[in-house]
Amino acid sequence: MATDPIPRFPDGFLWGVSTSAHQIEGAAELRGPSVWDVFTAEPGRVKDGSTAAVACDHYHRYREDVALLADLGVDAYRFSVSWPRVDSPGGLDFYDRLVDALCAAGIRPVPTLFHWDLPAGLDWLERDTAARFAQYAARVADRLGDRVGTWITLNEPAEHTLLGHALGTHAPGRTLLFDALPVAHHQLLAHGLAVRALRAAGAGDIGIANSHGPAWAASGDPADRRAADFYDVLLNRLFADPLLTGRYPDGIGELMPGDVEADLEIVAEPLDWYGVNYYAPARVGAPRGVDTEWGGVPLPAELPFSVRRIEDRPLTDFGWPVVPEGLTELLTGFRDRYGDRLPPVMITENGCSYEGLDDQDRVTYLDGHVRALHRALRAGVDVRGYFVWSLLDNFEWAEGYARRFGLVHVDFATLERTPKASYGWFRDMLREQRGQRGHRLR
Ligand code: BGC
Repeated sequence: MATDPIPRFPDGFLWGVSTSAHQIEGAAELRGPSVWDVFTAEPGRVKDGSTAAVACDHYHRYREDVALLADLGVDAYRFSVSWPRVDSPGGLDFYDRLVDALCAAGIRPVPTLFHWDLPAGLDWLERDTAARFAQYAARVADRLGDRVGTWITLNEPAEHTLLGHALGTHAPGRTLLFDALPVAHHQLLAHGLAVRALRAAGAGDIGIANSHGPAWAASGDPADRRAADFYDVLLNRLFADPLLTGRYPDGIGELMPGDVEADLEIVAEPLDWYGVNYYAPARVGAPRGVDTEWGGVPLPAELPFSVRRIEDRPLTDFGWPVVPEGLTELLTGFRDRYGDRLPPVMITENGCSYEGLDDQDRVTYLDGHVRALHRALRAGVDVRGYFVWSLLDNFEWAEGYARRFGLVHVDFATLERTPKASYGWFRDMLREQRGQRGHRLR
C-alpha cells in the first residue's frame, strides 16, 4: 500500500458508508414478507442455506450501529427503507427512530427507497408496480422529509434485472434472459415517477445508485469488441442512457413494453446527482459456446458475450479483481460520454469481501480506490461523495453470510460488532481529510 497521504478532497465532500435493509435489519417477523423471504425459503437458493430473518439485528441494535458511525466520523449514512416494513403496522416508526438517532449524531441520513426487497406479491414485470412505488415513496417522504435532505430512489436496477429476473440467482429467481427487459423498464419508470412524487412532497437532492464498470474487450478482434460493446450496453448504457439522455441505446427501446417514448420523459426527470456503485471492470469477449462466470454468477453459453478472467490482478475473497484505476476510467468515460448531461456524481458503493479482523487487503483496496477517485476529480469529473460498502458484515444475498464486506465484523452467533483494521483506517483518513480538526465539514 502507498504510504504517502491521500490527497485532500474538496471541503464539503460527503464521506459515508452504505448498508441495505434486507441485509442488516432482521426483525423479519415485524414486517410483511419480501420476494427475498420467499426466495430464501426455497432450498438451494442461498449457498449456506441461511436467511435474513435476523441478519445483523440492526432493527434492535441501530443505536449501537449509529454509535459506530459516529465514532467512524462519517458525514453521511446510506441505508435502505424496506417497502414491506413500511407497508406493515408501525413500520415507518423504525425509520423515524433511525433518522432521529442519525440527526442527533450529526450524520446525514441518505435513504434508498428500493434495495431489492420488493413486497411479496408485487412484480416488476407489471407496469403497475412503478405507480405503487411512487405512492410508497411519497409516504416515506411525508414521514421523514422534515429530516431527510438527500434521497436515493433505486439501488442497482441492472443487477436486480439481471440476477433476479434474467439469470435467477437472486430473488425472485426468474430465468427469463432477454425477456427480463420489461423489469428494467418498469424500474426506470418507477424511478422517474418517484422523483416526481418526492419533489411534489417537497423533497430535493435526489439521485439513484446504479452499478457500473468498464467493459474491456478481451482482444482487439472485432468479435470481442462487439461483445464488449454489447455488455456495455446491457450493464451500463441500458440504465444510464435513459436517465441522462432520455433515450435507450439503439435497438433496446423497441424491446420495451408500453408507450416507451412517453415513459422516457418521466425516466429522464433531471437528477440532482448520479450515484455510481463501483466494484470492478469486466473483460468481455465473443461467446465461446460454453457457460462462463460473472463475479461468481454462472452465465449461460447462449448470451452474445462471454466474461473472461482478469488474470493479472489480485482477487478479493469473492474472486473479484481489484482494479482501482477502473474507477477513474469509468468516471472520466462517463464524463466524456454524457458531457453536461451528467450531474454531479457520488460513489454510493465501493468495497470488497475479505475475511479477518486485520483486513489489510481491504485497507489496500479502499486506499487504492479513494486515490483513483481523486484522480477522476483532478481530471475534471464533478464527484461530491464516496460511500464504502459496507458498515457491517451482512447477509450477502445468494452467498448468505459467507462474504464479509464490513468495516465492522459481525459475529452472527452473538451479533457482537468488532471494528476491523479497515474501520480504523477509514476513521484516520477522515480525520486527516479534516486536517485533524476533529469535526465534520459541511
Ligand atoms: C449491492 C449490495 C451487495 C454488494 C456486494 C452491490 O451490488 O448493492 O447489496 O451486497 O454489491 O455484492
